[in-house]
Amino acid sequence: MSAKPLLSTVDIVRLENDMEIKSFESEDKDLNDFLLRDAKNYSSSLLAVTYVLQVGDETVAYFSLSNESLIKNDDEKPIWNKINRFIPNDKRRRSYPAVKIARLAVAKKYANMGLGRHTILAIKGMFTNEPQRAGCRFLVVDAYRGALPFYQKNYFKFFTEQDCNDDTRIMYFDLKAI
Ligand SMILES: CC(C)(COP(=O)(O)OP(=O)(O)OC[C@H]1O[C@@H](n2cnc3c(N)ncnc32)[C@H](O)[C@@H]1OP(=O)(O)O)[C@@H](O)C(=O)NCCC(=O)NCCS
Repeated sequence: MSAKPLLSTVDIVRLENDMEIKSFESEDKDLNDFLLRDAKNYSSSLLAVTYVLQVGDETVAYFSLSNESLIKNDDEKPIWNKINRFIPNDKRRRSYPAVKIARLAVAKKYANMGLGRHTILAIKGMFTNEPQRAGCRFLVVDAYRGALPFYQKNYFKFFTEQDCNDDTRIMYFDLKAI
């Protein structure tokens, strides 16, 4: 299937406990297991909400979201100053409300067709387009090393240089930039 018809037929559905999870296989086993075994428990425990992207009988991608804070790291003043530059002076704090993309995966079969970008745009839209129930200024993600270029292409920035050699790196996106 090519990208355009695929994206126009994708439904994004919040995973409910009584829903059947349609088959899903990304290149990351832990992420596959999370969806199939843990996602509903996280939701019942109010720890994360999962959304699935479906086409016909297949799950083509999914993501899980949790509340989070972006907290000042005193060792990274230049990065924090850059973040603060877009916050009015009298509203600057040591932490800002955020939502964490706790998990995100696209099915192997549908990789490199724009579904990842479509998913990130949908998440950005969830916290900017719709009337909001709580303030949320940033998206954050603890991104796998292999996915760093993907998040950079989706305008996420590194939050610290201290994790530059780690397996995962914290990245953020300022929703006010939309
Ligand atoms: C990372 C992932 C979500 C990307 O999804 P995708 O649907 O294949 O990505 P898209 O087709 O939307 O790609 C958007 C852009 O990012 C680039 N990109 C995607 N994955 C990339 C990667 N691993 N490395 C470099 N660039 C990548 C694409 O080339 C494309 O660039 P372009 O705009 O120049 O064409 C997917 O590969 C995946 O599920 N990986 C396994 C799980 C994972 O790593 N999840 C992230 C957890 S933090």
